[in-house]
Amino acid sequence: MSNLFINEHPLVQSKLALLRDAKTKSKEFRELVGEMAGLLCYDAVRDFKTKPVEVETPLGTAECKVLDKEIGVVALLRAGIGMADGILNMIPTAKVGHIGLYRDPNTLMPIEYFCKIPKDAENLHIFVLDPMLATGGTASAAIQFLKERGVKDITYICMVAAADGVKKLQSEHPDVDIYTAALDRALTEDGYIVPGLGDVGNRIYGTK
Ligand code: URA
Repeated sequence: MSNLFINEHPLVQSKLALLRDAKTKSKEFRELVGEMAGLLCYDAVRDFKTKPVEVETPLGTAECKVLDKEIGVVALLRAGIGMADGILNMIPTAKVGHIGLYRDPNTLMPIEYFCKIPKDAENLHIFVLDPMLATGGTASAAIQFLKERGVKDITYICMVAAADGVKKLQSEHPDVDIYTAALDRALTEDGYIVPGLGDVGNRIYGTK
């Protein structure tokens, strides 16, 4: 079963409180989404393998360590885009991809309408980004698409998760760890997390 990591760091929780606040305006909300993504990614990378490198300082040679595997981020459209820059601030060499999915109204199956991922995705450790893990349908489908393209190492980063979404990912992708700032109690009939953050895409982009 995949691991669920809920980040209780006071900085993460303070930012979450501001994100939850319905009075927080788009500009601040956007900035907080990026900052939160950076902090969650910092946590997610904690146990990644490193490799030794020698670096010449002005005074001598230092034995250093750098990440062993290159990182990629795949933002799920559209709200996941808001998280990508925060991760790039932490890992500027990360390659960025995007996946867009919609649910077919007849079959309810997730259909990919956009997919552009790094060419060498199968060699990267991929962070899948979406602020809200609600039912888990989109998350699970996106991870499946990545696996079908040969990606082996995947971590899911969201800001708020609902139990249903966690359960779905844990049963369908037990190899994928989940990093989040909160596990919320419920989902509305149309798939919004309660108390959650509201519609994150609209709050990031000011579209409502
Ligand atoms: N997407 C959102 O923007 N908010 C939710 O609560 C769930 C999915």
